[in-house]
Amino acid sequence: MKKKKLLFLILELCILTLACCFYFLYRSEKPGPSPSIYVTEKDRIEKPMTRDGQILLRLADNQRADHPTSIACDYFAELVATRTEGRIQIIPYHASRLGDEKSTISQLHYGGIDMVRTSIALLTDYNPELTVLEMPYIYRDSQHMWQVLDSELGDYFLQSLERSGLEGLCWFDAGARNFYTTDKPITKPEDLEGLYIRVQQSSFMVDLVSILGANPIDLPYEAVSTQLKQQRIDGAENNFPSYISTGHYLAAPFMVMDGHTRIPEMIVINKKILEGLEPEDQEILRQAASDASVFQRELWESEEQKAKEKFIKSGGQITYLEDQAAFVKKVQPLYNTYAYRYQEFLEAIQAIGQ
Ligand code: GCU
Repeated sequence: MKKKKLLFLILELCILTLACCFYFLYRSEKPGPSPSIYVTEKDRIEKPMTRDGQILLRLADNQRADHPTSIACDYFAELVATRTEGRIQIIPYHASRLGDEKSTISQLHYGGIDMVRTSIALLTDYNPELTVLEMPYIYRDSQHMWQVLDSELGDYFLQSLERSGLEGLCWFDAGARNFYTTDKPITKPEDLEGLYIRVQQSSFMVDLVSILGANPIDLPYEAVSTQLKQQRIDGAENNFPSYISTGHYLAAPFMVMDGHTRIPEMIVINKKILEGLEPEDQEILRQAASDASVFQRELWESEEQKAKEKFIKSGGQITYLEDQAAFVKKVQPLYNTYAYRYQEFLEAIQAIGQ
């Protein structure tokens, strides 16, 4: 009898343990809003930091200090310091010192960081409409992209992050993105088949690379060099200044000029931080950002050229597509998946500059 009771007790204990395991497993797997995206009002910090009467604003950036966008961020900081007679100091943190791009954007969202210079590929979680600005081959060329960004539509998109408590202060150029590989040159879509290609942490970029037949590996920017060196991936894609400044070209010396997308960049500010400033200081910030944008796009052109020259001198190989139309055709289905709701934007973009 005693034995039976003991057996029952053990059985009960087992059932209880199993039930607990299932409960916690279910709870942890249950989908829910990512805390980085949906923060509540009371989670937010959002007060400009001050020291000795000066307002300090932290600007996060994942490029190294010698990269044209970092130089333009420094220029922006200088303009603000001069125009406010030193009352507002923007402190740029380059080379991901405040974290990778994705994490700095979530820190920005709750006010842990004041500003971020970022590729819009990672802002589409905060406003999916921004995806139209990164659709493959949407711009005829760089001039067309700038016509779009400088238009009312461009202003609309800078303001479109308001719902997430953010404001885009200005646009930066990030050129065209091209594929680069470690072992063999690419000249047609089939050459990409089966290759492991690093992409930004964006579902759109994952799908773009999949549709071309490669295996996308989404990783933070900072992780790419090691992965290339250790041959864990076969390549990546980026613009020329980033390809050179990160040293990726040393491990992946084949670059194909396919220009599959141009992804503009923004300096984004936490809106509450901005509104915590005097109205005239807000204006100084907006104007300085817009002047820094003009400075950056000029610098971009010359730096892009310099980067190309450095690459060629290093013995790197540039290839061109045998059939550009074949690439363009292969990525067309992405318009159905990502842009079908934004037909009006697509038409407006095409009409600009015609
Ligand atoms: C570009 C961009 C970065 C981005 C990077 C990437 O170089 O300037 O902001 O992080 O692409 O591929 O992740």
